[in-house]
Amino acid sequence: MKAVSVAIDKDAAEPIYRQLIRGIREQIAAGTLHPGERLPASRDLADALGISRISVVNAYAELQALGLLAAHPGRGTFVVGKAEPGVDARVLPSVAANPIAQSMHRLAGQPGIIAFSGGAPAEEFLPAQAIRQSINAVLDRDGAAAMAYEETEGYPPLRQTVSDYVASLGIRCKPEQVLITGGCQQALDLAMQAMLGEGDVLLTTNPTYLGILDIARIRRIVAVGIPMDEDGLRLDLLENAIQMHHPRLLYLAPTHHNPTGTVMPIHRRRQLLQIAAAAELPIIEDGVYHELSYAGQPPPPLKALDDQGIVLHASGFSKIVLPGTRIGYLIAERPLWERLLTVKQAADVCTPGLNQRAMHHYLQTGALVGHLDRVRHACQDRRDVALEAARRYLPADARWSEPPGGVYLWIELPRDGPTAAELYVNAIQHGVAFAIGTMFHTDASGAYFIRINFAAQPPDQIREGMRRLGAAWRALALNRPVSAGAPIL
Ligand SMILES: Cc1ncc(COP(=O)(O)O)c(C=O)c1O
Repeated sequence: MKAVSVAIDKDAAEPIYRQLIRGIREQIAAGTLHPGERLPASRDLADALGISRISVVNAYAELQALGLLAAHPGRGTFVVGKAEPGVDARVLPSVAANPIAQSMHRLAGQPGIIAFSGGAPAEEFLPAQAIRQSINAVLDRDGAAAMAYEETEGYPPLRQTVSDYVASLGIRCKPEQVLITGGCQQALDLAMQAMLGEGDVLLTTNPTYLGILDIARIRRIVAVGIPMDEDGLRLDLLENAIQMHHPRLLYLAPTHHNPTGTVMPIHRRRQLLQIAAAAELPIIEDGVYHELSYAGQPPPPLKALDDQGIVLHASGFSKIVLPGTRIGYLIAERPLWERLLTVKQAADVCTPGLNQRAMHHYLQTGALVGHLDRVRHACQDRRDVALEAARRYLPADARWSEPPGGVYLWIELPRDGPTAAELYVNAIQHGVAFAIGTMFHTDASGAYFIRINFAAQPPDQIREGMRRLGAAWRALALNRPVSAGAPIL
């Protein structure tokens, strides 16, 4: 096995895993590492370099995606390619699936686990009965037409209803500006495909929505994260980031941000729009949690304040009605809208017509207002239970803020205890799952953060889950050597 020696500067702005990728590429290019040579196991290399294992795992995954390394289960990771000398050292994201998210999902799905880890609303919130009635009504009314190909831009009456609906949130748009998509996730993906090419830079908050990082990885777009404070994206760092990275797009969720729960105040929204307009930087705004505010109306969406036409608004009905029908929407100015339509056509021709018509019917019944009211109240109750249980069961030095809406509690663990990834394995053994902070970061930081979806569980399960989480943390913290070194994962 070949020893790998890479000089890592922990104080450098360049993330550690990128330094490692650069170092290994240079050694392959220089011939110090030959095709066929086996590299150390990620844990061993992490120990040797004094860095976290996740940095090595990420670096190996990206080098595999670049065709320079290959992993053989049970045998190890091998050099396979020869890097071109002088190749741009900026490394494109790996197209490999997110390995942490996949194994986390598998573990959290085991019987008996109280899963705070996902992003889905609780099943008891989904208006299954009302949707059943809407589906039946649509089938009675439209027959086979409901199951034919729908127009790529969406079922026209639904586009009209969405344009009326978003007007209630402050967004003025014509139905012709609405594109119906397969959930908000597809809206984001279409925008990324229409506006960015391989190697382009997407600016986002750090941390950010995991799904946007997945898209960036698959589309080989470079996601650069800008730190946040309690009011969201830090604008004092934005201008510098624009100058340094020449981004093509800025993605953010200003209201009930996933994972932090922050809400950007209106003055910062206005300032953000000014900076972006001056830099001619388009923004894609993600509004999926906008309606889940517990304390009155949140500030208007960025799109409602946008008089320059630089904001695309992506949202949908997954978090407020139900995720399974996959109805989302994009609101964009023309001619960008036409480009988005072309990408949508190539992606899946159309969003299923029956689902669109059923959602349209449901919205027309006016049931959404009462439904949303019930969901908000239930989420608020669950948030209060989660906060109370967190105070009671989590370590005294853990930190979180009270989210004014949405479904997530973003918790910082004490630095003298286990990392989130170390805690995860033990938490599963105690029967509880959460989402690990590093997954939401563009640079694999956030090792001491966890995200809890409190809305996913009924109150007694929230209490029990938090109790198990506290017990799992204490079991690890008590057995921890006093001089524990760098996190192992
Ligand atoms: C911030 C954010 N945007 C988009 C999505 C995806 O929504 P959809 O299910 O409509 O694709 C999610 C789902 O978790 C989300 O949290």
